[in-house]
Amino acid sequence: MQSTAEDIALQQVSIALGDRSYSIDIGTELLGTTACFSGLPKASTAMVVTNQTVAPLYLEQLRAVLSPVYPRVLHVSLPDGEAFKTWESLSLIFDALLSNECDRKTVLFALGGGVVGDMTGFAAAAFMRGVPFVQVPTTLLAQVDSSVGGKTAINHPLGKNMIGAFYQPQRVVCDLATLNTLPERELSAGLAEVIKYGPIADMAFLDWIEANMTALRSRDTKALAHAVRRSCEIKADVVGQDERESGLRAILNFGHTFAHAIEAGMGYGAWLHGEAVGCGMVMAARLSARVGLADEAFVQRLRNLVLAAGLPVTAPVLDGKDNAARYLSLMRLDKKSDAGEIRFVLVDGHGTAVVQGAPDRLVAEVIAESCRA
Ligand code: NAD
Ligand code: GLY
Repeated sequence: MQSTAEDIALQQVSIALGDRSYSIDIGTELLGTTACFSGLPKASTAMVVTNQTVAPLYLEQLRAVLSPVYPRVLHVSLPDGEAFKTWESLSLIFDALLSNECDRKTVLFALGGGVVGDMTGFAAAAFMRGVPFVQVPTTLLAQVDSSVGGKTAINHPLGKNMIGAFYQPQRVVCDLATLNTLPERELSAGLAEVIKYGPIADMAFLDWIEANMTALRSRDTKALAHAVRRSCEIKADVVGQDERESGLRAILNFGHTFAHAIEAGMGYGAWLHGEAVGCGMVMAARLSARVGLADEAFVQRLRNLVLAAGLPVTAPVLDGKDNAARYLSLMRLDKKSDAGEIRFVLVDGHGTAVVQGAPDRLVAEVIAESCRA
């Protein structure tokens, strides 16, 4: 299952946001590389935020590399899982910061997947009205997507990522070696966000993913390095043009309108975020075909690739009595909705995405078709 972790040279992707620009470091064994953690804001305390699964695997490595830089290296370990992306978990971070008399220079380090990263970023945005933070993503999903771009949030029972802030990290350090301990299901979930970048921006990358799916799933380091790098380049380019999602950035949500309904409707954590995105992309592709943007061959191509990544393509029934109504009511809560109109990211099958509404009738047809196959 695991590759022999072949070392690759450090690669860097820059995200250009004026005085909030930063670099995304990609390589192997970066958790032990002092240079990746030098030049950050000076502080007397580093607070590592992690969770109960990741701490035993990587906390000591990170502590060792931070100790020469920060006089005090503390940590707080949160309960693991999407179901814990809550106010209560967020409060645990503030409790740790305040009970240890941390000041406004304290640097937070998010060590974990997207859940830890999103919560740490939100805590950093709010603690003493803003302290610096660094993303150290340890899942594929977090390395290719959530650690980059400054979206931070917690969930509300009525909607995913509903409470949060735009707040950029000082740096992102992606150590590919951490992916060797990732459960296979989580690796597949990350591949959903990798696949996403093809239809919205780069069909040559989609060709590459198709050709390299076996290497990616067997954790070939070179293949993973390319996937992380190209994904980060595309995301950095989009975020550099539209940091606060006034328009273009919404394309990064391809598949996510359906996905967020699946996650909220099933209960957070029942489906992994990446699983919901995989299925949601197939649903969005079907909707793209129904409104005349994409053709059926593209829908089949994407469905096959999502399946090859080990992801679900059959949508769950959220309500046995009126399933479409349940999906539609959950999707109306999506942040892209405008005056009650659901807005979908649709694609043409040639690398271009648009954000637009669609008739409820067509959406209901897609939901029915997707719950069957
Ligand atoms: P996750 O953070 O729940 O991590 C997945 C699982 O893997 C967890 O059990 C975690 O403890 C474990 N894990 C993490 N690293 C590991 C490692 N190296 N070895 C073994 N186990 C490890 O899930 P995720 O898929 O990383 O992130 C999903 C979250 O990211 C969702 O909440 C989603 O909303 C968010 N997200 C945010 C953005 C953004 O732009 N901010 C983008 C996409 C997704
Ligand atoms: N993952 C979507 C975004 O960062 O905008």
